[in-house]
Amino acid sequence: MIPRIYIPADSGALALGAEKVARAIEKELKERGVEAKIVRNGSRGAYFLEPMVEVATDKGRVAYGPVKPSDVKSLFDSGFLTGGHHKRWLGAPDKIPFFAKQTRLTFARCGINDPLSLDAYKSLGGLRGLQNAVAMAPADVVKQVTESGLRGRGGAGFPTGIKWKTVLDTAGDQKYIVCNADEGDSATFADRMIMEGDPFVLIEGMAIAGIATGATKGFVYIRSEYPHAVGTMNKAVAIARKAGVLGLNVLGSPNAFDMEIRVGAGAYVCGEETSLLNSLEGKRGVVRAKPPLPAIQGLFGKPTVINNVISLASVPVIMDKGAAYYKDFGMGRSRGTIPIQIAGNVKHGGLFETAFGLTLGEIVDDIGGGTGSGRPVKAVQVGGPLGAYFPRALFDTPFDYEEFAKRDGLIGHAGITVFDDTADMLKQARFAMEFCAIESCGKCTPCRIGSTRGVEVLDKVAAGIEAEKNLALVTDLCNTMKFGSLCALGGFTPYPVMSSISHFPEDFKPAPARVAAE
Ligand SMILES: Cc1cc2nc3c(=O)[nH]c(=O)nc-3n(C[C@H](O)[C@H](O)[C@H](O)COP(=O)(O)O)c2cc1C
Ligand code: SF4
Repeated sequence: MIPRIYIPADSGALALGAEKVARAIEKELKERGVEAKIVRNGSRGAYFLEPMVEVATDKGRVAYGPVKPSDVKSLFDSGFLTGGHHKRWLGAPDKIPFFAKQTRLTFARCGINDPLSLDAYKSLGGLRGLQNAVAMAPADVVKQVTESGLRGRGGAGFPTGIKWKTVLDTAGDQKYIVCNADEGDSATFADRMIMEGDPFVLIEGMAIAGIATGATKGFVYIRSEYPHAVGTMNKAVAIARKAGVLGLNVLGSPNAFDMEIRVGAGAYVCGEETSLLNSLEGKRGVVRAKPPLPAIQGLFGKPTVINNVISLASVPVIMDKGAAYYKDFGMGRSRGTIPIQIAGNVKHGGLFETAFGLTLGEIVDDIGGGTGSGRPVKAVQVGGPLGAYFPRALFDTPFDYEEFAKRDGLIGHAGITVFDDTADMLKQARFAMEFCAIESCGKCTPCRIGSTRGVEVLDKVAAGIEAEKNLALVTDLCNTMKFGSLCALGGFTPYPVMSSISHFPEDFKPAPARVAAE
């Protein structure tokens, strides 16, 4: 049998040098006259081990990483094509602690095979969910999704089944499924990883959403910064269409569903669902007032399901294994699994899919291994640029929508950014206000004007100008933004600001005191 070598072509792995490693392996094979098949897979998500090269051996797959081009000669000398020992040897991928501790439902196939092989997708259970869905009445598909407890993974955590039911129950000559792949939150890459590593699972999820709601057309709105994801999704859609997964008769059924990929122009606010719909329609990406909900009047005024990539990509496993199976994972009202993305100043950065319920401390210390710098962890921002900063004192918070809300935080798209003790939380609070000022769509005053005033007032605090009075002003301003903004950009910017002030008051002391303390 010709040996198979797996080298990720995922953009995270490419950024870490996977292409150069692939070239070096090809060259070495040629020079040694050895025949082998190179498969370009996605990433399994342990970025601290990328580029992670795997070899299929008689005893299963063996991983090596992080591999540098300079390692390639010695890898061949060590007999890596048959799993030989080497300083980069990691053993069976499933046994590597970072993977062994995960519960992979949504990402079960990601990073294992060629992402564009539909046969490989099917061989690992792909399309079973869609097959079940085409044999069911739309209302029963919606019921399954509702009973699974799946909530939107884009940020707001709204129950997916309820959203789908509204679209199903709304009359319309045309309905749409829109997939939100704008993924603008800091520390997040789950959407990108699955679109590059297992694109058919998203296509399958969207087709199921179409069948469940009566929508025959779907759009995936992908941020322009994701050219690899755009390329892979376009190719996967063409393959799915050719294979009859998409088209007038989905899997030979009377249901029609087709989809297209659209590229955004690079605005954080275009991840907000109504702004995204405007952008898809070719208009400026400005937030729309709600009501009407997109489920009633969405894209081009038609009933529209708009869901995050991970929400949609989690549906096939629910339709394959059943609502009860999915619901069995998790805690409280946070059911199933969540792909946590660990980034920032952290030792073991990557994507970790697990049932809801791990504490923040377990995620940062046990899974993430603490900071990359080796210094103590000072703060963790959870939920992107609009998420709160958590100090160590709150590391017992379980990863659960309600538990985070109780502590004035949010899970958002489940990205977490780790900071060590050199972080200046006043600077981070200012950054949050500045981010809001730059990204504001300008539609409402608390966000458009408030964020700019917020930067100015925090600059006064930093300069030691009437610090106490100005901090009170920031608090007042945050309340105005929280309760007076039209969307969550202005409405949630107060979270990183206020959590910095309340958990790290020492960083907001007047400048002379700060200088004296340093
Ligand atoms: C400023 C802002 C940016 C957002 N960015 C994203 C994003 O990049 N991706 C996403 O899925 N949802 C984003 N959302 C949430 C969406 O508005 C919406 O709730 C989500 O797409 C619904 O899908 P879900 O129910 O599957 O989560 C954002 C919201 C706001 C206010
Ligand atoms: S809060 Fe900001 S981004 Fe949202 S609608 Fe108002 S101005 Fe636009």
